[in-house]
Amino acid sequence: MKKAIIFDLDGVLLSTDELHYAAWKSVADELGVPFDRQVNNRLRGISRMASLDIILENGGLSLSREEKEAVATRKNDRYRTLLMTLTPADVAPEVRKTLAVLKGRGLKLAIGSSSRNTKLILAQTDLSNCFDAVSDGTNITRSKPDPEVFLKAAAFLGLSPSDCAVVEDAVAGIDAANAGGFLSIGIGDAANYEKTDRRISSLSEILLMECF
Ligand code: G6P
Ligand code: MG
Repeated sequence: MKKAIIFDLDGVLLSTDELHYAAWKSVADELGVPFDRQVNNRLRGISRMASLDIILENGGLSLSREEKEAVATRKNDRYRTLLMTLTPADVAPEVRKTLAVLKGRGLKLAIGSSSRNTKLILAQTDLSNCFDAVSDGTNITRSKPDPEVFLKAAAFLGLSPSDCAVVEDAVAGIDAANAGGFLSIGIGDAANYEKTDRRISSLSEILLMECF
């Protein structure tokens, strides 16, 4: 039996992946580089700067370090403006109920997200109190597919990776979970990835898994 579940945030608990898409799209349009949902899928779980590098490489555009810093800041400003419109109603009832049932079974719950905006998102949606630990972009030096963010989450909980499962929508996140020795559970885009240990099509299916 597992003792904890570490959840990715964007695209797993909330549709903030759509807000990332909207913010990157407006910036890419201004730069005149192509950006679509296929490219956006490659950014799941990837840090802000690495995401910009992928967008620029895909569009065949090269920018100086200073220009890249300015573009990344502009994207984040737009993203945060969109985040300010989030409310508790943006968390699906199924998500809240699943977290509550898991907690009721005695499982520890944590966040493992590359986003430096994690705490703002949790506050806006009234999710902060649902988690025993939060590991995010502010406490890591290496983004997914490096397992650092999940290893830190397990350490914050005082558990070893083999005691924890990770729920992810990103291929990079599944690679990170596997590299860290966690049970990987894929949802959305990651449910089609061959290296995913378990696949779910909606969050409440976790409740049917025998290891919880
Ligand atoms: C998550 C998202 C990525 C995003 C990253 C950094 O992992 O899936 O798409 O690039 O966080 O987010 P931030 O909010 O710090 O720009
Ligand atoms: Mg995600």
